[in-house]
Order: sequence, then C-alpha cells, then structure tokens
Amino acid sequence: MANTLLTIQNVNKYYGDAHVLRDIDLDIQSGEFVALVGQSGGGKSTLLRLIAGLEETSTGEIAQDGHTIDGLNVNSRVMFQDDRLLPWMSVQDNLTFGHTSDKARLAEAQKLLHEVELDDFANAYPDSLSGGQRQRVALARALMANPQLLLLDEPLGALDALTRRKMQELILKLWQERQMTTILVTHDVNEAVRMATKIYVVRDHEIAWSGTNNVAYPRADEAIAPMAGEIMDVILDGHVDQ
Ligand SMILES: Nc1ncnc2c1ncn2[C@@H]1O[C@H](COP(=O)(O)OP(=O)(O)OP(=O)(O)O)[C@@H](O)[C@H]1O
Ligand SMILES: [Mg+2]
Repeated sequence: MANTLLTIQNVNKYYGDAHVLRDIDLDIQSGEFVALVGQSGGGKSTLLRLIAGLEETSTGEIAQDGHTIDGLNVNSRVMFQDDRLLPWMSVQDNLTFGHTSDKARLAEAQKLLHEVELDDFANAYPDSLSGGQRQRVALARALMANPQLLLLDEPLGALDALTRRKMQELILKLWQERQMTTILVTHDVNEAVRMATKIYVVRDHEIAWSGTNNVAYPRADEAIAPMAGEIMDVILDGHVDQ
C-alpha cells in the first residue's frame, strides 16, 4: 500500500502584493516521482523551496511524514541547476564534507561515486570536471545519508542534449534502486513525461492539471507523445484542446 509522504494543504505564498502560489493542495505518495512543469514565473521553484523549508508559507501547511515543516526540512535534499560544489574541496570531500576519517561516511561516498560512475574522480577538484560530471557529483552528494525526499530544481537545465538524456537515465536508475520520493521541477515537458509517475502543471500560480503516468520504463518517445501533447496544451491554453 502506498502511503502519503508529503501533504500540502491550502498553501498560499505572497511576496509583498504578488500572489505567487494560490491554494495549493496536493498529496505526494511515498516513492512517487513527481514532475512540476509550467511556464516561467508560475511558482514551481517557490513551491519546491517551501517543501525544502528554505522559505515559509504565507498560509497553509506542508507536512512530511506527519510532521509540519517548520524551518529547514532536514529529511529532504535539493539539487539545483548550478552544482554548488565547494571548489576548495575534492569530490570525495564534497560528499563527506571533509569527514573522510568517518569510515561509514567515506564508504557511502565511495559507493555513491561508483553509482554515478565517478570512481576515478574521488580526489579531483570540481574545477577539473565537466558540467555533466559536476552534476553527477551534486547528485551523489544529494543522496548521501539517503534522504527521504529528493528535490530537483531544473538540475539538467545547463547540460547538452545527450548528457541530459544520460543524466535522466541515471536519476531514474537511482530512483528505482533507492525508492526515494522525488520531485523534479522542469520546463521540459518530454523530460517530465519520460521520468515522472505523476505530473502537475503549475499555471498562473495554481495547479492547473495533474495526471498519472503509467507508461512502462524505459519510455519510448512515441509512447509518451500523447501525454506530452496534452500537457503542452494545458501549459499554453490552460486546458486540453479537443
Ligand atoms: N524571493 C522573491 N522575492 C520576490 N519575488 C519572488 C521571489 N522569488 C520568486 N519571486 C517571484 O515569484 C514568481 C514565481 O517564481 P518562481 O521562481 O517560483 O517561478 P518558476 O515557476 O520556478 O519559474 P522558472 O521556470 O523561470 O524557474 C515570479 O514572479 C518571481 O518573480
Ligand atoms: Mg524555477
């Protein structure tokens, strides 16, 4: 039985007079892969930041595992478009945060570097890596200590098309192996439909549409095209065209 990990109830967010999120209500099940898509400025990143506890709701409540989020959500990790690695630390130290004498932590870092295919780069510094490699380090770092909830804000936005496809596959593989609940914010509708089990369209600061995606993995382009088409309609027109 699936159980609810995250409950978002009647959430509103204002920045001054700007009403950036309106009456958001949604439940996210444990183990789900959720995608939030929609036009720029719609409020996707704001919702992610509220879930991460990086900002406070104006009204309403967000609870994870039955506990209201109040301050930083320590059971979540966020990955952004820029890798935010510490340049003065090696790859391995970015994962262990310099605690390489902690044997368990070091072993976990090495295991994760293996999973993201960077075994040979443990002692390298971020500046010597490609953008794709740095995002793999950032992903490995986000998965240290097995967070209950992984929050991804356009993490692949700066990558070339091929590297992006490979990263999508890597994230999916890790999600399937580790079963962490994942929320991906993306502009790319095909990326959302290729990866997510549940998709929400954020339009004009509201949830305008939601859909469950049951297409089996790996998802061929033809298999995801109908749902991607519907979602594009909603993003552009606010409803599915007949
Ligand atoms: N700290 C802030 N102070 C004031 N306004 C903000 C702040 N953060 C976001 N906003 C405004 O809130 C709205 C939603 O922003 P948000 O970043 O959530 O959109 P988004 O859907 O993630 O867009 P994008 O796809 O471009 O990343 C925008 O109009 C933005 O200007
Ligand atoms: Mg954003």
